[in-house]
Amino acid sequence: MISEYESHEYDVIVVGAGGAGLRAAIEASRQGARTAIICKSLLGKAHTVMAEGGAAAALANADDRDSWKTHFKDTMKGGKYLNNWRMAQIHAQEAPDRIRELEQWGAVFDRTKDGLTNQRNFGGHTYPRLAHVGDSTGLEIIRTLQEKGIHSGIDIFMEYTVRELFKDEDGKCIGCIAYNRVDGAIHAFSAKSTILATGGITRCWSVCSGSWEYTGDGHAIAMWAGAELIDMEFVQFHPTGMVWPPSVRGILVTEGVRGEGGVLKNSEGERFMFDNVPEMFKGDHAETEEEATEWVRQVVAGEIASVRRPPELLTRDVVAKAINKEVAEGRGSTHGGAYLDIASQRTPEEIKEKLPSMHHQFMELAGVDITKEPMEVGPTAHYVMGGVRVDAETQETIVPQLYAAGEVASGLHGANRLGGNSLSDLIVFGKRAGEFAAKSAKNIEQPKLDETEVNRACNSILDPLSQTDGENPGIIYESLREMMQTKVGIIRNGNELEKALDELNEFQRRSEAISVGSSKIYNSGWHQALDLKNMIDISKACTLAALTRTESRGGHTRDDYPTPDSGKWSHTTNVIWMENNQVKIRQEELKQPPAELEELLDRSINKKKEVEK
Ligand code: FUM
Repeated sequence: MISEYESHEYDVIVVGAGGAGLRAAIEASRQGARTAIICKSLLGKAHTVMAEGGAAAALANADDRDSWKTHFKDTMKGGKYLNNWRMAQIHAQEAPDRIRELEQWGAVFDRTKDGLTNQRNFGGHTYPRLAHVGDSTGLEIIRTLQEKGIHSGIDIFMEYTVRELFKDEDGKCIGCIAYNRVDGAIHAFSAKSTILATGGITRCWSVCSGSWEYTGDGHAIAMWAGAELIDMEFVQFHPTGMVWPPSVRGILVTEGVRGEGGVLKNSEGERFMFDNVPEMFKGDHAETEEEATEWVRQVVAGEIASVRRPPELLTRDVVAKAINKEVAEGRGSTHGGAYLDIASQRTPEEIKEKLPSMHHQFMELAGVDITKEPMEVGPTAHYVMGGVRVDAETQETIVPQLYAAGEVASGLHGANRLGGNSLSDLIVFGKRAGEFAAKSAKNIEQPKLDETEVNRACNSILDPLSQTDGENPGIIYESLREMMQTKVGIIRNGNELEKALDELNEFQRRSEAISVGSSKIYNSGWHQALDLKNMIDISKACTLAALTRTESRGGHTRDDYPTPDSGKWSHTTNVIWMENNQVKIRQEELKQPPAELEELLDRSINKKKEVEK
């Protein structure tokens, strides 16, 4: 069938308008490239806003002992040394300049007494390192980039979903196809360079902090086009999502609450995190309540002399698993989480000043006044460390002229991301992707899309509209999310993972016989039917990688292999690709840092301590 579609031509197309996409587009446009952003939702609505507590950058404003070298070391240690060392180095070195640039563009960060950008504590960071705007940092970054972007001559296609990438006969990416979610019209884009900045995949779990857009679109279209995914077993369950009422379960409660001194307690009133410090982190964290209380006093007084942080600021994987354990052993909060208490640590004025959104969120959504009562919190799927494999310098994937930046890309965070390293990742690597994509576009002729290919892709988008008598895709969608939550969740085991793979094959079979009606206008069933294709393939990628990694490390915990394997898996990466419509996996040896960076890591000490709880 010959379909109708509208054609567009650009030098650089950016798919996604969160922090990475906006920063990439600004840079591409600054290099002189005709640039367009295609985004699934309204401009400004991105998961970036869910990084509330701050952007990590070694500005050394709150503690002058900080440096890029300590940030590099913390990032590698937090990632359990599975990070791409060069990305970790670039990120630590360039984040301060990217923050200063945001300030020049109008971002209003909180200030120290001396008028410098203030920085707060977060899990796994040796020094207070997160530049922040109260507890709405992601929102302020999006606002700033959006203001800058709309004055940079970038065209914006809002509420469009990209479904496929096009390649030429040499295997180069030459553009993409998208449909307008409002009226169903199809648009084909020819692009000399394409940048994926689509964010993550956490809608594949039923309790998550991400909103409806987070269905793994970029991960899937990259894999379908021949790119490789790495580290897909590593999914970050942020320890503190709301647990009550059910309608808001999963919504993020910023780590900034703990960074400002908030403490976690179980139903018996115990600060259980003191019992959960893994060997690897001993010495970095306070061992007694007195020591932790002194740390809070120093934070409030702006002294920050201590580097021994309270155990609530252990890395997210450790805190999430500790809460899980309290609940499993019968010491959970009323609705199955833990209590997060800031009221006993800070005055109501301080809470309202430093955590205004949290105060508002709990008041409005749960009827809880956090200046007086504890919050109920529990783990929520927040971030995927895995994603498209990219070149550390340029962000180009193994498909020439296809780039990826931000959460959809992988490498920087290894087995676990430190809080705050996401916002800085977006601006450091978003800029690089925009720069290199635009520079290489300068040497390329405008690609011509093959009409037969475009027609095939149009038909594949329209296909669900002509099916009748099938299942409602919404039912498959919700069942898949529940299944991933129970079988590929925070604690996994081989038997369940194998069952999950079988169930995903069954979901795939069911998703081929759906019906959504024939209307193209705001047809959410149609959108869900298309999203399901990504979610199934990406869930398979996660599950297969999780089954293959027979150890526990960072954001991947197996109860049948409960400790890290300091042999093979301490230096091995799972690589996923697609062949004949099948998700495939192989292992690769991880490249190690050069001697001068290895020296910074103190890894011989950490290796000895590596046995986690
Ligand atoms: O807790 C938070 O504010 C989240 C930050 C992040 O994911 O980087």
